[in-house]
Amino acid sequence: MAIETVLSGMRPSGKLHLGNYFGALANWVNLQKQYRSFYMVADWHALTSEYGDTSAVESNVWDMVLDWLSCGLDPAQCVIFRQSWVAPHAELHLLLSMMTPLSWLERVPTYKEQMQEMKNRDLSTYGFLGYPLLQSADIMLYKATRVPVGEDQLAHLELTREVARRFNHLYGQVFPEPQAILTKTPKVPGTDGRKMSKSYNNAVLLSDSAKDVEAKVKTMYTDPKKIRLDDKGHPEGCVVYAMHTLYTPEAKDIEGRCKAGTIGCVACKKRLTETLNAGLEPIRAERAKWAGKIQDVKNIIAEGSKKATAVASATMADARGAVKLAIPPQETPR
Ligand code: TRP
Ligand code: SF4
Repeated sequence: MAIETVLSGMRPSGKLHLGNYFGALANWVNLQKQYRSFYMVADWHALTSEYGDTSAVESNVWDMVLDWLSCGLDPAQCVIFRQSWVAPHAELHLLLSMMTPLSWLERVPTYKEQMQEMKNRDLSTYGFLGYPLLQSADIMLYKATRVPVGEDQLAHLELTREVARRFNHLYGQVFPEPQAILTKTPKVPGTDGRKMSKSYNNAVLLSDSAKDVEAKVKTMYTDPKKIRLDDKGHPEGCVVYAMHTLYTPEAKDIEGRCKAGTIGCVACKKRLTETLNAGLEPIRAERAKWAGKIQDVKNIIAEGSKKATAVASATMADARGAVKLAIPPQETPR
């Protein structure tokens, strides 16, 4: 069997939080060891919602890349690149747009959902409708067979398979049909117990200082019925406990003591502050290192984008050939 290729991407949302880490990044770091892997900063995708004010996109790109590198994405093991620096993404998106029925895009569930959620923006644009098709181009350009994504992205992957099938049916076999990699990832609650999200203001960032972490742990939602140390608590539903399961070696023990009423929330939070900070310290240290040589970081992304462009251009040559569009004479395929 041919070796499998992994591609995934994230929209540049700035500094990442623990939900991003456990939900995706930790997984990527593992996958880079097993597969030929491409990881992409989806900055054109960011524009689909941020076109009205693009001023934060650039700094968000580099903040996110710093977190990627600090957590162990390694340019020696995978290709890390930036979508807008690999022009063939635009070219394949265009080609696919010719053969993709509008109804396929209109029925993607995230389309209407996001429109509802982001009422503060006018998303009745061509680019926003085409968001999942640009994503299909991202995947297909690398002939990726495996795409690590969250459940919320499964519909986009389904669309990608349909588009690939349609292309192959119309013009001949060029693209494999990619499968999701749906790794069981721990649910990371935000400090208030809702899903961790920057927009809810409940996120612990990978780059938070030790002081920030301490302050955030203090605000974490706990069992509201446990007031005194000897009250019997309910760790399930307690954010502090959920975090202990991710960071604290003796989490099981803490669960028992909470239920038995032999530990209080203050001591419990103090312990979490220690283990969370111990877990984040190596990432912080790496981040400080990379932040001190931002030109190297930019070169890594430039190099990665060059490698990605070479692969993507070879695929475009196949796609143009299949569609029977000749490449210009005197020119080797880009
Ligand atoms: N849409 C994805 C998200 O919001 C990001 C993304 C863009 C992506 N292109 C991709 C994910 C290609 C996987 C493959 O999370
Ligand atoms: Fe949560 Fe710990 Fe308090 Fe139990 S003791 S409710 S696990 S903070």
